Amino acid sequence: MEFYDYRFMEIARPIIEHKEYQQMKYIKHHDESVYEHSVKVAYSSYQIAYKNNLDWVSTIRGALLHDFFLYKFKKSLSPRIITDSIKHAITHPLIALENSKKYFDLNDKEKNIIKGHMFPFGLPKSKEAWIVSYSDKYIATMEYYSNFKKITKRKIHAFNAD
Ligand SMILES: [Fe+2]
Ligand SMILES: [Fe+2]
Repeated sequence: MEFYDYRFMEIARPIIEHKEYQQMKYIKHHDESVYEHSVKVAYSSYQIAYKNNLDWVSTIRGALLHDFFLYKFKKSLSPRIITDSIKHAITHPLIALENSKKYFDLNDKEKNIIKGHMFPFGLPKSKEAWIVSYSDKYIATMEYYSNFKKITKRKIHAFNAD
C-alpha cells in the first residue's frame, strides 16, 4: 500500500470506503484493479493540483470517480477490437458519470473531470480536468508497460523451463 497524505485521505475516504466504490477492487484494469488505478490517478492529480494552487478537492473527487464504470471491458482479438475500444473510450466516462451521480453529490467541475478524461473523445474544460486526463494517460501507460513486462517474464520463464 502506498502512502497517501492526510489531506488526500480526508477528501478521498468517503468515496473510497463507499460500498459501491469498493466493487472496483474486483475489476481488473491494465496491470491491477480499477480501484488501484483510480486511487493512483487521483493521488498524482492531487499532487499536481495542490502544488499549482488549483482546486485539489474537486481534482481528487473527479479523479477517483473517472473510471467508476463497474464492469470489465473485455478485449477480444477480433477485427472488432478497434471499434470496441473506441466505443468503450466514448461510453465509459458517461457510464462513470451516471454511476457517480447516483451515489455522490458532484459539482460541475467534478462532472467534467469524469466526462472529459478520455480526451480527445471528451473535452476537459478546466485545468484540473486536463491534469486528470494527463495523469490517467501517464499512469495507464505505466500499468500497460508493467503488465507487458510481467507477461514477457512469464513467457521467458516458461520457455526456459521447457
Ligand atoms: Fe477511463
Ligand atoms: Fe483511467
